Amino acid sequence: MRLTGAVVLVTGASSGIGAALVRRLTRAGSRVLAAGRDLERLARLAAETGATVLPADLAPPGAGRDLAERVLARHPRVDVLVNNAGIGWAGAFAEMPDAAVDELIAVNLRAPVELTRALLPGMRRHGGHLAFVGSIAGRLGVAEEAVYAASKAGLDIFAQSLRPELARHRITVSVVVPGVVDTPFFARRGQAYQRRRPRPLPPERVADALADAIVRNRAEVYVPGWLRLPVAVRGLQPAVYRRLAARFG
Ligand SMILES: NC(=O)c1ccc[n+]([C@@H]2O[C@H](COP(=O)([O-])OP(=O)(O)OC[C@H]3O[C@@H](n4cnc5c(N)ncnc54)[C@H](OP(=O)(O)O)[C@@H]3O)[C@@H](O)[C@H]2O)c1
Repeated sequence: MRLTGAVVLVTGASSGIGAALVRRLTRAGSRVLAAGRDLERLARLAAETGATVLPADLAPPGAGRDLAERVLARHPRVDVLVNNAGIGWAGAFAEMPDAAVDELIAVNLRAPVELTRALLPGMRRHGGHLAFVGSIAGRLGVAEEAVYAASKAGLDIFAQSLRPELARHRITVSVVVPGVVDTPFFARRGQAYQRRRPRPLPPERVADALADAIVRNRAEVYVPGWLRLPVAVRGLQPAVYRRLAARFG
């Protein structure tokens, strides 16, 4: 998929990885529709990049469908959808409030499913690309982030299932799997990133990986690439992986 001239809808565009991606795509000549809730940050981003702002809270039921309808009313053709918006929650699962569980699953999983489904009919006519921002948490599981990890695992396997299903419609699918990224994500979830390693990467690294995945139709990209290793060890030697994870975290 060429970025120049492509109409790209990016969710979670107001911050972190999404904002970096909007900058990366507009530099490449894409027409970017930037969805998010924080209108001030979105307006600043739009002034800087020329992206079009789409206010959207993706937590309520049907919000993904509503956003798609608003997009299609103005842009009959969306070439690329980047499902990036996401929230975290850290702490003991037993203490996680019901409302936090609901919101997390709604934003991280239900809304991308709705949005993807609502944009599919158009994409089936013209072809297109679906990109999903997963997480290493969704590939390995993380203690005290169980619902977040489950939401990302669900998103990941949704994307992987769509890839073969949609290939005949010329719709390609990528999953980008970041490790730790230096964004407001941790402050927002209410618990800072506390480990010394791995060091958080700049969000531009993930934005570059997403752009590359769209252009080169890459099925999955780990950022950084070495994250492939623990996932491979867990796949091939689960008991060894569990021992290593218990020792090194
Ligand atoms: N940071 C990391 O270490 C890391 C690692 C792996 C994966 N990820 C994933 O990367 C993606 C982007 O996160 P980030 O690190 O860039 O964090 P971020 O800076 O906190 O950005 C999150 C984005 O999601 C949007 N969002 C949150 N709740 C929303 C809602 N109810 N409706 C609509 N939009 C909502 C936010 O919009 P508003 O600001 O407008 O509310 C914001 O634009 C997420 O899916 C996250 O799970 C992050």
